[in-house]
Amino acid sequence: MPDAIQLSHVSKAFGSGDARTLALKDATFSAALGELHLVVGPSGCGKTTLLSVAAGTLAWDEGDVTVLGTRLNDLPQPKVTAFRRRHIGFIFQQFNLIPTLDLVENVSVPLLLNGRPRREAEERSAALLQRLGLGGRERKRPTQLSGGQQQRVAIARALVHEPPLLIADEPTSALDRETGHQIMEILSTAARSPNRCVVIVTHDPRTYAYADRLTEMEDGRIAGVHQGQVLQNFIASHH
Ligand SMILES: Nc1ncnc2c1ncn2[C@@H]1O[C@H](COP(=O)(O)OP(=O)(O)OP(=O)(O)O)[C@@H](O)[C@H]1O
Ligand SMILES: [Mg+2]
Repeated sequence: MPDAIQLSHVSKAFGSGDARTLALKDATFSAALGELHLVVGPSGCGKTTLLSVAAGTLAWDEGDVTVLGTRLNDLPQPKVTAFRRRHIGFIFQQFNLIPTLDLVENVSVPLLLNGRPRREAEERSAALLQRLGLGGRERKRPTQLSGGQQQRVAIARALVHEPPLLIADEPTSALDRETGHQIMEILSTAARSPNRCVVIVTHDPRTYAYADRLTEMEDGRIAGVHQGQVLQNFIASHH
């Protein structure tokens, strides 16, 4: 299957002098269309940094980054932003919903940014909210919802423009067990769409069973990539 993300020998440092931290050290990572790919590892090992580079929201120091066949090294920043808006959905750990907008307005944002008319944007957003079990709540504000409901709104916002690449940073960490499973079911259904790749950073071993492939990180490096029987053994040893 074609690659959705290909990072090749990517390094990234934050700060300088004594405060310098190497967040990515010669990291080579790939994720394919059609798969749900988990990225795991201890706090501070570089997971968010890796995803931010892949999403085009963070500049890196060395290496090559190709997303959906487009080499980001070659693109000026405004083009990277336009590319991201069109092709990537991002789900943030803390949802990042806009408190002054209702649910339909929140979910409509990516469509409006891509130049769709408001009426069409709101119709598509309402239909997706309905599919994710939030029908009847379209005109509520995010603060009137539970954590799991807010996370579903954040997923709707990331999916509404049907991006081929969906990236989620710890989407279940704030949720109870049952809600976490519901969210993973929605994300794994999204990944089954043949031309979509879903990449999820997680600390949560309960999500491992949903992975087609799993990349382990450690101290800014890629420590292992598991799939098939090796992945099953990894999951068994982490329960
Ligand atoms: N903006 C920043 N400025 C300085 N250092 C940073 C910045 N962002 C990340 N770092 C450092 O880079 C390293 C990797 O951070 P990153 O956020 O990618 O880790 P993570 O694996 O996502 O951790 P967590 O599981 O806690 O979210 C850490 O040492 C962190 O302190
Ligand atoms: Mg992180």
